[in-house]
Amino acid sequence: MTTSDRRPVIVLGGTGYVSGEILRLLVTHPSLRVAAVVSTSADGGSVAAAFPQLAGTEADSWSFVTLDAAIDGLKKDQIIGILAATPHGATAAMLDRVLSAAEAVGADARAVDLSADFRYPDAASFERVYGQPHGAPGRLAQFTCGVPEHVVGVLNRHAAQPGCFTTAVSLAAYPFLAMGLVEPTVFACAVTGSSGSGRTPSAGTHHPDRHSDMRAYSPLVHRHEPEMRRLLAAANGGIAPDVDFVPHSGPFVRGIHATVRMTLVDEHPADELVEAVNCFYETGPFVRATTMPPRLRDVIGTNRACLGVAARGSTLVVTSVIDNLVKGAAGGGIQWLNRLMGYSDDRGLIAPGLGWY
Ligand SMILES: NC(=O)c1ccc[n+]([C@@H]2O[C@H](COP(=O)([O-])OP(=O)(O)OC[C@H]3O[C@@H](n4cnc5c(N)ncnc54)[C@H](OP(=O)(O)O)[C@@H]3O)[C@@H](O)[C@H]2O)c1
Repeated sequence: MTTSDRRPVIVLGGTGYVSGEILRLLVTHPSLRVAAVVSTSADGGSVAAAFPQLAGTEADSWSFVTLDAAIDGLKKDQIIGILAATPHGATAAMLDRVLSAAEAVGADARAVDLSADFRYPDAASFERVYGQPHGAPGRLAQFTCGVPEHVVGVLNRHAAQPGCFTTAVSLAAYPFLAMGLVEPTVFACAVTGSSGSGRTPSAGTHHPDRHSDMRAYSPLVHRHEPEMRRLLAAANGGIAPDVDFVPHSGPFVRGIHATVRMTLVDEHPADELVEAVNCFYETGPFVRATTMPPRLRDVIGTNRACLGVAARGSTLVVTSVIDNLVKGAAGGGIQWLNRLMGYSDDRGLIAPGLGWY
């Protein structure tokens, strides 16, 4: 496929961390190409200057553009992807503008939202969790939110990637609930790297504050906890399981390490449970379980998730590692966009990890 055969993608949230990862993955994607990188703060600036890791690729010729300029580039009958890596609260109205403009010119736009704006099916649920009005309630019915591995096919025109903690915990808990192997009670704690907080430093995320330290935050009240309940309900006959979630800030940049404890209905040795989980995920390439506790470095830079299964009596503990910026955001978003465009989930996402970084 030549550059011009690759389908265009508009990226929102231009200078952000997740945007940088989307661009890193799209420069080598065989079927998708970057058409516009929208920035509210760096219009006209060089993309490769903002992300020097992209220098020497096709990104050398890209400049950030405004949302209006990206909209002006839409064409009739064009199939175009939109990846939104903008903050929750701001995203819905931006996506609504692009999608309305695409509809007006007759372009076939497929959007994936990486923010929280389309993770709930109704505005009231979003408003309850995020404490602000939804920016485009009329669009909610057009989005399916889910971890791609837990959704069969394409259920809707657009998709929303769950939060990065939700992704790591759901990947561990969902198969056990879906196979009826555990009681519907999940305790999860997860440690995230600092890139999970985005590029704007704050007192709690600043390097001197986090380096060589670790702490829990928002125990039992984190915004991803209701998201986990909602998504895991699909594995539990539509009834939300009890989920108690304690997130932690870790002294590293990339990755999430989640520890998920559940109670087995019947006792099974860990290797039998590993076989069952691998069977559950066998149609996709990204999620694999073993009895060995996985390490962050097994997955950093990749769209993979590794699960480690341990069992003693009725106690089940599953450890789950993902790269928050890839499987938890940019990679998961491209996985969804591949699917919405009719490509295999793994197109452009098979690069191995770094191992040491
Ligand atoms: N970081 C992660 O690990 C992670 C994981 C999963 C999901 N997410 C979600 O993905 C989204 C992006 O996260 P991030 O970590 O990349 O955040 P980030 O580094 O703060 O980047 C977000 C970008 O959005 C743009 N922006 C900021 N305020 C805006 C506003 N009011 N209206 C429109 N654009 C605005 C800015 O780019 P310009 O100035 O160039 O416009 C900013 O750089 C967030 O919704 C986040 O919750 C992040």
